[in-house]
Amino acid sequence: MVMDGNGRWANERGLTRTEGHRAGEAALLEAVAGATSAGVENLTAYAFSTENWKRSTDEVKFLMGYNKDVLRRRRDLLMEWNVRIRWSGAERKLWPSVVRELRIAEEMTKNNTGLVLTMAVNYGGRQEIVAAVNKILQEIRAGGQAPKSITEKTIQKRLYVPELPDVDMFLRSSGEMRISNFMLWQSSYAEMIFMDVLWPDFTRESLWEAISEFGRRQRRFGGASDAPLN
Ligand code: IPE
Ligand code: IPE
Ligand code: MG
Repeated sequence: MVMDGNGRWANERGLTRTEGHRAGEAALLEAVAGATSAGVENLTAYAFSTENWKRSTDEVKFLMGYNKDVLRRRRDLLMEWNVRIRWSGAERKLWPSVVRELRIAEEMTKNNTGLVLTMAVNYGGRQEIVAAVNKILQEIRAGGQAPKSITEKTIQKRLYVPELPDVDMFLRSSGEMRISNFMLWQSSYAEMIFMDVLWPDFTRESLWEAISEFGRRQRRFGGASDAPLN
C-alpha cells in the first residue's frame, strides 16, 4: 500500500503539507481495520521512502517525528486489535529514535496472531536487494562458506523481512501510476491497483473496493488457459 497524496490533499484545502500527513494517520487505521475484517494476513504500508530525504528539512523532520509519535500513540490500540507490527527498511540515516520506536512496537506485538502490519520506513526496493547481496558477501568474508550459486532463496532469506510473502495486491492512492521503489522484489507478479482517492480520504471501504477489483483480475503467472467461449 503506497499511502500517497497527503500533500495534495492539504494544498487543496489551503493547508500545509504537514497537515496532510497528520490527516493520513486516520486513513492508515482505517486500512488496518478494513484489512483485518477482510481477512488480509499481510499489509505493508509505505510510510517513508529512501528518496523522501530529498524533501525540505522541515518536512523530513516532521515526518520522522510523526512516524515516531504515531507508533507510540497507536501501539496499544494495534495491540488490542491483535496486530503484529514489523519494520522494513534501512537503518542508515534513519533517526535512532524512530528505529527505537519501531523496535519497541515489534517487540511488544511479536506474539500477536492477527494482521501483520509492516511499516516501510526508510525503505527502498533496490536498496533492499543490494543489502541482501551485501549480506551474502559479509557472511562469506566472516568465514562462511560461499554458496555454489546464488538462487532466489539465497536473496529472499536476506531481505529486510524475509518472512513477507510475495505481494498479491499492490495498491497506490492519489492517482499516480508508478511503483516509486516499493517492494520491487516481492511485487514481480503483483496485481497493480491505482485509486484516485487522496490518502487522507482513504477509508476501509476504499480498501474493500480495491479487494473486489483484485478479485476480478485473472492471475496467470505466465501460464495460459483458454477462456470459455460464450
Ligand atoms: C505521501 O504523501 C506521504 C509520504 C510520501 C510520506 P505525499 O507527501 O507524497 O503527498 P503528495 O504526493 O505530495 O500529494
Ligand atoms: C512514495 O510516494 C513514498 C510514500 C508514499 C512513502 P512519493 O510521493 O514519495 O513518490 P513519488 O515521488 O511521487 O514517486
Ligand atoms: Mg507523493
